[in-house]
Amino acid sequence: MKATLVIKNIDNLITLKGENRARKGKEQGEIGLIKNGVVAVKDKEIIYVGEGELPESIEVDASTEVIDGKGKTVTPGLIDSHTHLVHGGSREHEFKLKLEGVDYLDILASGGGIHSTVEATREASFDDLYKRAEKSLKTMLSFGVTTVESKSGYGIGDFDTELRQIEVSEKLNEDYPSDIISTFMGAHAVPEEYEGRSDEFVDVLINEMMPKVIEKTNVKFNDVFCEEGVFTVDQSRKILLAGKEQGLIPKMHADEIVSLGGAELAAEVGCISAEHLMAASDQGIDDMAKSGTIAVLLPGTSFNLQKGTIAPARKMIEKNVPVAISTDYNPGSCPSENLQFMMTLGSLTLKMTPAEVITSVTINAAAALDVENEKGSLQKGKRADISIFDTPNLEYMIYHFGINHTDKVIKDGKVVWNKENNRG
Ligand code: NIG
Ligand code: FE
Repeated sequence: MKATLVIKNIDNLITLKGENRARKGKEQGEIGLIKNGVVAVKDKEIIYVGEGELPESIEVDASTEVIDGKGKTVTPGLIDSHTHLVHGGSREHEFKLKLEGVDYLDILASGGGIHSTVEATREASFDDLYKRAEKSLKTMLSFGVTTVESKSGYGIGDFDTELRQIEVSEKLNEDYPSDIISTFMGAHAVPEEYEGRSDEFVDVLINEMMPKVIEKTNVKFNDVFCEEGVFTVDQSRKILLAGKEQGLIPKMHADEIVSLGGAELAAEVGCISAEHLMAASDQGIDDMAKSGTIAVLLPGTSFNLQKGTIAPARKMIEKNVPVAISTDYNPGSCPSENLQFMMTLGSLTLKMTPAEVITSVTINAAAALDVENEKGSLQKGKRADISIFDTPNLEYMIYHFGINHTDKVIKDGKVVWNKENNRG
């Protein structure tokens, strides 16, 4: 078989070899490292991963693109499994309030925070939203991220805006090399026009918005912000079960700030993932371990909220809950697209080893998006989404923080980003 692309002499080839499923407990740190590795690709598919030279059965000729991996670390294309990619405006005007110690939920309750972005997003045209999101997507790609989840939730009560956000994600998915997977998050906040009538909004969301969004888009997941002053556990249960009945896979923003029993609910409803979890209870963690719910941790949000709370990642790993790490990129709680920085925070603040961290942004993130059969590890038959980092080992990539280590990004077998010219 003729290879279209080969990466050879790879100092550190991190394969994440193993079954196509989320890795938990001890497995979270088993990354299938090959020294002096080689990867061969045909078109969009990986056809060989191994050590040393390619076997004779794989042909290389003048048309094969050959990349030298000397001095490099090669990983599966990174996956950012929780973002609010598409939105209008920004919130630097709230930065001062935050520095003065005003609480995130108090800013939200007084009509700022998410509501401020809702206003800006409702005002933004398709093109405005597209351009802003495209810029972020480019930044993400430059950091080695080839798959991105994208949530709606800045239209909330205004269905057209919810729809526009998802349509922007879907158009970018078509136009741009990265894969974008859409989540409906109409339950991101109680719209101001429904203040004091949140149950009524829940009914509108379930009976009117959800069926329409499913009819008009390819949205895959349904997410709820279950939080004090936002949606209660009972309301969240109702929204998630209704989504499930209509064919959406449930996800949750759970126990981010106040411990409400969000992790327990995620397990009860059978959520594929529960996200944030800074205030998750021990019972909630035990329940998630039993249900196989993936914990998507967002250390950049903890860092940016500056509340001194972090998700109990070590406890989760000890109790066999698979852990993923993501940016949570959004204009409020985490205005950063830099997944490499989140990886550093994963080690420094969540106390995860670099090996556990790389698992959390590859195969476990793929599993949180239900794409573990095609992405998240470098194995024969999988999609050729591959990131090459200019670091002598994995530890260096995480310890030397705040810069971009990406050398090249390969999406579906093609170099789509290159350090030399800042593009493919
Ligand atoms: O994941 N917590 C709720 N939603 C987002 C924040 C969105 C915003 O502040 O605009 C989050 O942190
Ligand atoms: Fe979020």
